[in-house]
Amino acid sequence: MNTLTINNLSLTYKNGFQAIKDISLQITNGMFGLLGPNGAGKSSLMKTIVGLQKPTSGTIIFNGIDVSKNPDHIKQNLGFLPQDFGVYPKVSAYDLLQHIALLKGIRNNSERNNQILNLLEKVNLSDFKSKEVHTFSGGMRQRFGVAQALLGNPKIIIVDEPTAGLDPEERNRFNSLLNEISNDVIVILSTHLVEDVRNLCSEVAIINQGKILAKGNPNELIAGLENRIWSKPIEKDQLAKYQSDYRIISQQLIERELYITAFSEEPLPDFTLVHPLLEHVYFNTLTQKQ
Ligand SMILES: Nc1ncnc2c1ncn2[C@@H]1O[C@H](COP(=O)(O)OP(=O)(O)OP(=O)(O)O)[C@@H](O)[C@H]1O
Ligand SMILES: [Mg+2]
Repeated sequence: MNTLTINNLSLTYKNGFQAIKDISLQITNGMFGLLGPNGAGKSSLMKTIVGLQKPTSGTIIFNGIDVSKNPDHIKQNLGFLPQDFGVYPKVSAYDLLQHIALLKGIRNNSERNNQILNLLEKVNLSDFKSKEVHTFSGGMRQRFGVAQALLGNPKIIIVDEPTAGLDPEERNRFNSLLNEISNDVIVILSTHLVEDVRNLCSEVAIINQGKILAKGNPNELIAGLENRIWSKPIEKDQLAKYQSDYRIISQQLIERELYITAFSEEPLPDFTLVHPLLEHVYFNTLTQKQ
């Protein structure tokens, strides 16, 4: 069993902006979802875990070893799929994986070759191994990203918004792949897609403005909202009044009609009780007074 323990982690960027505020998390094998809106601090947290930036305070311990005191330990066991891969060089998928594998320290030629061919197979890119990566579609790039992250059999895999920009079929394929590899390793998935977390993760943390606002098992978090989520179609011009009278957690157009969703421990007049979803947990958490 692998364990990542984050204690009282804070990060202030050079310009004085504090992107991570006193975060503590304990993560073990399986898929862990880090869910939060744009600018919440997901990438900041992930880049800090993988050692690309140093925290201002706090500790990150991977399998008993302090990441800041021994950065090589987590690096040797890590696969990272960054949100922004940057520029893809004009080399073939196979050659780029060779290059990355060497950087990861896989020195043995036949072992390196075997791993690369197996991974290309796993991510369904065998037929394209001689194609230059910069000519790949978005979905193929993401799958290539997973292949490079899996080089060296990492014990902890960190993927930052991996399904953004993928079509539904590619997204399903990508998610199944993550699910498949998550049995024996830690996979941390950052996303703003509640549905991906619902389908994949046994643990979730909701992050906003650099703070963890809620964490736990999705089913348990959802159960906590039973009999508390109410919905109602309204006229658009009534929205402001409802927002001042009730705790509205979200609003949504359904077949061009505006539905509001409210949190309330008591029944609300003319509202319909709805079964809570992880989406409600997410919006309820984000709209709670801090
Ligand atoms: N290098 C930096 N210097 C200063 N501020 C930064 C830096 N990088 C990020 N930030 C700020 O930190 C906050 C969190 O950014 P971060 O990229 O971690 O968010 P995110 O949750 O990954 O968002 P997204 O879903 O859009 O990727 C933002 O307000 C951002 O502007
Ligand atoms: Mg990000």
